[in-house]
Amino acid sequence: MDKFLIQGGKPLKGRIEVSGAKNSALPCLAATLLTPETVTLHNVPYVKDLITQRRLLEDLGATVLTPELRTHKITAKNIETFEASYDLVKTMRASVLALGPLLSRFGKAKVSLPGGCAIGTRPIDLHLRAFEQLGAEVSLESGDVVATAPKGRLKGAEIDFGKVTVTGTENVIMAAVLAAGKTMIRNAAKEPEIEDLAGLLVKMGAKIAGAGTDTIEIDGVEELGGAEHSIIPDRIETGTFIVAAAITDGELEIAKCEPRHIEAVIDQLSRAGVDIETIDKSTLRVRRRASGLKALDVTTEPHPLFPTDMQAQYMTLMTQAAGRSTVTETIFENRFMHASELIRMGADITITGNQAVVNGPKKLTGARVNASDLRASASLVLAGLCAEGETIIDRVYHIDRGYESIVRKFRAVGADIERRSEQLDGEDGFEV
Ligand code: EPZ
Repeated sequence: MDKFLIQGGKPLKGRIEVSGAKNSALPCLAATLLTPETVTLHNVPYVKDLITQRRLLEDLGATVLTPELRTHKITAKNIETFEASYDLVKTMRASVLALGPLLSRFGKAKVSLPGGCAIGTRPIDLHLRAFEQLGAEVSLESGDVVATAPKGRLKGAEIDFGKVTVTGTENVIMAAVLAAGKTMIRNAAKEPEIEDLAGLLVKMGAKIAGAGTDTIEIDGVEELGGAEHSIIPDRIETGTFIVAAAITDGELEIAKCEPRHIEAVIDQLSRAGVDIETIDKSTLRVRRRASGLKALDVTTEPHPLFPTDMQAQYMTLMTQAAGRSTVTETIFENRFMHASELIRMGADITITGNQAVVNGPKKLTGARVNASDLRASASLVLAGLCAEGETIIDRVYHIDRGYESIVRKFRAVGADIERRSEQLDGEDGFEV
């Protein structure tokens, strides 16, 4: 298993580019199942989760061509099976995003029910209940969700989510676009990735209004066509790079990003002592303010508030801030796995239920630490970059799931970080 070796204490300086958003590319690739025509997606990030999603589409019978590494030409003309296997779903929960489009276009789908993951139990009950409201029959058979549209086509309905769910909203949008009649989704998730998915679907001929708000209206159509679309920048990667500049006391120009999508993150970090300048509509210049980092409480909430996917990175920053801060996690019940590793590096963190109290600044010292999930591993890389001495991070396959070429990108701005692969095929096992 790959690991990272980091010699900390070097300020990051220079220009770093943001890749396409994993959490938009995943539903956009799934959406290509809604049409037999070719859909071309640009700015698809080269990360493990997208390779898994591509494999899922090919297993179903779609053809996926990549004229360029980050351009996918997908044609779901000859779909032969409607099943997403356990082997795939167990590696990536987002495989459940195949349910909506398969059910919508073919009236049947079978997807292994995803188990829990490191950050929480993560049920999909809200997805399944919504499919039933759209007229599907849903059952669980030997660990698989089996869904059929008895009349061959789903029927529009009023869906009111009891809780905000991102992939639940995406799955229902994709189920409703080919349903008979109108669907209203209330208490919908408002993440930018949902707007991006709706943007692609509208180019394919769908009728959707209100994406990005908590009320989405969809008028079902008979069929959808091909389209060409570019995936939005990854707002969580952008936030991670902002913290990287501040925690190493460096200066980064973060390019190809979309500041509009992370206003809550920019606001929180600015008030915590990070100078974030907008150079142009897709470039930020970031450095720590001379007055230093100051402790500031944060609570994770659905978009447009502070994202849970930035919580671990923020906690690491707070270990270097003057004072006491409280980090409250309201989305996932078990998303503090990184805290115990940060404590091993010398951080002062106390966890009580869904709250972490951080006292800083505390000097971090390099240690051997374990990554437990995607964002936790990003927070350990940030800790290693500012720690004294060497940090070794094990199980970095987690970070390869959602960050493209993180070693190459950080090295290009002065970080002393290397990947050690046991395959011994040279240093950068999964970097392009
Ligand atoms: C998406 O996960 C993201 N993943 C997650 O990013 C992100 O953390 C999360 O949204 C919240 O922003 C993708 O987009 C692929 P939810 P999702 O359904 O859709 C509960 C990353 O690091 N819930 O919005 O699975 C659920 O347990 C990943 O890139 C139900 O109870 O999250 C959670 O507590 C990690 N029943 C809350 O709602 C349901 O049917 C929000 O989950 C669905 C969700």
